[in-house]
Amino acid sequence: MAFLKVAFGFLITASLIATVSLAHPGLGFGAPSYGLFPQFYQFSCPQADDIVMLVLKKAIAKEPRMAASLLRLHFHDCFVQGCDASILLDDSATIASEKNALPNRNSIRGFEVIDEIKAKLEEACPQTVSCADILAMAARGSTVLSGGPSWELPLGRKDSKIASLSTSNNNIPPPNSTLQNLITLFQRQGLDEVDLVALSGGHTIGVARCATFKKRLYNQNGNNLPDETLERTYYNGLKSVCSKSGGDNNISPLDFGSPVKFDNLYFKLILWGKGLLNSDEVLLTGNVGNTMELVKAFAEDENLFFKQFTTSMIKMGNINPLTGFNGEVRKNCRYVN
Ligand code: HEM
Repeated sequence: MAFLKVAFGFLITASLIATVSLAHPGLGFGAPSYGLFPQFYQFSCPQADDIVMLVLKKAIAKEPRMAASLLRLHFHDCFVQGCDASILLDDSATIASEKNALPNRNSIRGFEVIDEIKAKLEEACPQTVSCADILAMAARGSTVLSGGPSWELPLGRKDSKIASLSTSNNNIPPPNSTLQNLITLFQRQGLDEVDLVALSGGHTIGVARCATFKKRLYNQNGNNLPDETLERTYYNGLKSVCSKSGGDNNISPLDFGSPVKFDNLYFKLILWGKGLLNSDEVLLTGNVGNTMELVKAFAEDENLFFKQFTTSMIKMGNINPLTGFNGEVRKNCRYVN
């Protein structure tokens, strides 16, 4: 009897510890473990993802491109100090906003949608869901709502109290990158060639400004000639939206065949000389490692692309998160508390 009592007591205690640990990792016994995990808000804000999806559905129905903008926001967040929502911080006395970095200025968008999600989450579960997790949930939701794959999303990121304009300028790959340059910048984040090619598949949705691909049309190698890998008809079409002088803010789809549908056409277009950015094209022709084979494999098999995209998104979402007692949960994503 006494034994049964002890055993029962142990069971109760163990299950209590498990529950508390889930909501507040680090409060359980043993060494604290602060990894990300999908059930992070299971008790503290079970409706978090529903709220995110509700706002996303409305925003994307109003403007389908918003899905692309939100996916990119998570990428530009994670490549600078890790996935810590540093990109959302506005200029202030102590913050030089990453929004003014070269890859972001005049280009990165979606902040108002994140604000709306945050406001709704603050109403439902005050100071619980971090802005960094909102970015990750918005990226996944945007992929799904565009017809792409879903995945189990590890959560539990905290928000940074700092931003880095210079890291943003240095770590986010520019569109005229060589393949070696892309590989190096991804390696810096613990991502490999497979991640590089799969995540570039994010360019299956969204648009780019003329300024980001003009060089390919008029002066690819400093000899006043176009990039010879560009297919002729496609090249002529691009010239009509992107003239030699001016028009820098005119936009063209990254995947002109299905610009708001998340599919593998992006990879097929690259094979046909119809990839928009130099960084897209060099995945096929850059002649380093196995990226050419990967482009071909993803062009041939959409399921393979979807599977690898989800794996690589989880990997990217896991770059250097602040967890446990590091960082904070901002009340307003634009400012530190
Ligand atoms: C491999 C290196 C990459 C380079 C060089 C690159 C570069 C660019 C550039 C130049 C633009 C257009 C920006 C503008 O004209 O304002 C763009 C747009 C975009 N990028 Fe990337 N990108 C890369 C990787 C990624 C990754 C990893 C993702 C996500 C997984 C991504 C998602 C997007 C999306 C969705 C857009 C369209 C955004 C919109 O329409 O608002 N990119 N990218």
